[in-house]
Amino acid sequence: MLKVSLISLGCAKNLVDSEIMVGHLHQAGMAVVPDATSADVVIINTCSFIDSSKEESIGHILEAHRHRGLKKLHGQKLIVAGCMAQRFAKDLPGALPEVDAFIGLDQLTTVAPIIEGLFARPRGPAATPENFVTPRPAFIPDFDTPRFRLTPRHLAYVKIAEGCNHPCTFCIIPQIRGRHRSRTVASVVAEARQLIADGVRELNLISQDTTFFGMDTWDERPSPRTPVDSSRGAALTTLLRELNALPGDFWIRLLYTHPAHWSDELIRTIAECPKVARYVDMPLQHISDRMLTVMQRETSSAHIRGLVRRIRAGVPGIALRTTFIVGFPGETEADIDELCEFVRETRFERLGVFRYSQEDGTRAAKLPGQIPAKDKERRWHRVMALQQAVATELGQAQVGRTLRVLVETPGVARGEADAPDIDGRVLVPSTHPVGVFAPVTITGSRDYDLLAV
Ligand code: F3S
Repeated sequence: MLKVSLISLGCAKNLVDSEIMVGHLHQAGMAVVPDATSADVVIINTCSFIDSSKEESIGHILEAHRHRGLKKLHGQKLIVAGCMAQRFAKDLPGALPEVDAFIGLDQLTTVAPIIEGLFARPRGPAATPENFVTPRPAFIPDFDTPRFRLTPRHLAYVKIAEGCNHPCTFCIIPQIRGRHRSRTVASVVAEARQLIADGVRELNLISQDTTFFGMDTWDERPSPRTPVDSSRGAALTTLLRELNALPGDFWIRLLYTHPAHWSDELIRTIAECPKVARYVDMPLQHISDRMLTVMQRETSSAHIRGLVRRIRAGVPGIALRTTFIVGFPGETEADIDELCEFVRETRFERLGVFRYSQEDGTRAAKLPGQIPAKDKERRWHRVMALQQAVATELGQAQVGRTLRVLVETPGVARGEADAPDIDGRVLVPSTHPVGVFAPVTITGSRDYDLLAV
């Protein structure tokens, strides 16, 4: 029996791809092992979002190659999968001859026969790696796609769509993952039903743009600004209502929504569906109109400000998570002042800030006015310090409240306002059983975490 070890890098979308590969390896009778030393094959599922993720991916590849040399695992095969393999399909086989094969996003379901082929056709010492990557990926999983979950039993990521049609000038992901393609409502609901029966208590809906779900199937083509509207065809609101109607005690969490597609129908749907967590992840990237225009975010400062007000009014108690990019080409001190003022007045419950990364192949990389690293750093610290003060105040305001939390590990839980691996934690007595909901009373706060009994 062939043994395979897999390292999954990058985001939750890549993790689902890893789960699909593991599902297919199991189906083919291969064993997936945690330790590379005992493996016949090592797969590295890479990320290529920004420079640091590329460096991390290359570091893992070289380390896996070094490890097989040190341990004299001369027959071990090294496969590179995922976003970096897809993005640099032409260049990587020449640049990384240590690798045995590169596979892309359309080869997730054929990983097992690819491995068998590598063992059937021994490679000569000077041969270049085999390259299976195909351009313009089109794959999207279905409810019955073999998959082995790598998350704890009580939570799952559900990829409701793949690809992205937005033209953001800083982002390489649409070029890697292709055009937006949605699953059907029935497919997602069938998968959710299985997951809930399997003990899942939290369904995290993910894609590049969850708000665009279904819109690519409409008769009348939507624009990158079209609002969610179930009268025109399948839509996120249809999906949320069907998931909310499934029996069982679970949360539905919405990640990666785009402000341009939010509608009153979506706000009303969240308010009317008690199983949808009072939490929304909506990357905004900036608030200055000048920056939003050069970023090609398909939205404006006025739209965002109005939308935040409508969401807060329509879903009382909702926690808003967002991300901003600082140091984008041409950003001025006045743009940062405006962003800081917006952060101060909006008081986001959760907020992340990225320093702009100049990525080859994106339009923003060629823009004039690139910002020096030290200025990016200073701006990053300025916004983060502001948010730290907001988070401390918001944490203290929770003291005395009773929250429903999902216990993750002994002594550590998450509330509705905390997405897995991204947000804070609620520290609870370790007697609470793992994987179940528990009511707790907040007794204190520490940085981004809450303490509870
Ligand atoms: Fe995710 Fe990195 Fe790919 S963030 S979509 S794994 S480029």
